[in-house]
Amino acid sequence: MNWNTILFLLVPYAVVPLAVVASAYRLLYRPYTVSSLSSQILESRKLFWGSISFHYGLVLVLTGHLVALLLPRTITLWNAEPMRLYLLEATGLALGLWALAGGAVLAWRRYSDPRVRAVTKPADVLVLVLLVISMVTGVLTATLYSFGSSWFTAVFTPYLWSLATLRPRPDLVADLPWLVKLHAFNFFLLVATFPFTRLVHIVTLPLGYLYRPWQLVIWVRRPPRDSAARR
Ligand code: HEM
Repeated sequence: MNWNTILFLLVPYAVVPLAVVASAYRLLYRPYTVSSLSSQILESRKLFWGSISFHYGLVLVLTGHLVALLLPRTITLWNAEPMRLYLLEATGLALGLWALAGGAVLAWRRYSDPRVRAVTKPADVLVLVLLVISMVTGVLTATLYSFGSSWFTAVFTPYLWSLATLRPRPDLVADLPWLVKLHAFNFFLLVATFPFTRLVHIVTLPLGYLYRPWQLVIWVRRPPRDSAARR
């Protein structure tokens, strides 16, 4: 068995079940720990600028990754026109840099503010390091290996689907440059740490607000008799 098979077949098949089982356990048996404890009361200015840039940038970049995975033909058709390809690549890179700038502010905040540092656990540092590795290698991939939005659909989409459909083809990624491999492999490390760190707060995304009924606030007390006069 070679290294490529270990890193891109065994590791993903080990970390995904681990993440699912451990997250389910934490949700069911430690529900009040499924969050990202706020340190806003200790420092709020750097947190605001860092967190907004990091979250918005990354959510948009990862949405792009998801579109390439789920709707590869849409990306191929969009990229058929060079102008649109450049636009997509430039937008992805700008969003990646925005997320990275936010991540850098958050990392600097954890390091430089003594109060925030005092409440920082080793797991928080681990998550930050892994996220920074993902963002740095992503931005470098986008700059050094042009038109990733196109070759993602040719290489990574079939590879990731091969894993999902239990017909693994790690050979599809075997010849990629090490930097690109590190970028993809780091995702499996993030998956492995997911249930054991503050990353688990992702499952608390309040999607219920999208479909729950309107909240009606009904005044049940009778208004004071002279309220009309006071108005
Ligand atoms: C198996 C998982 C992943 C694969 C296969 C993958 C693949 C890629 C590829 C091919 C690019 C270059 C895109 C381009 O040149 O247009 C890229 C860019 C990027 N990736 Fe990933 N990625 C993965 C996971 C992640 C994760 C987990 C993060 C962050 C936590 C991330 C963050 C980024 C960023 C910031 C960029 C640069 C912006 C961009 O071009 O979209 N990626 N990724």
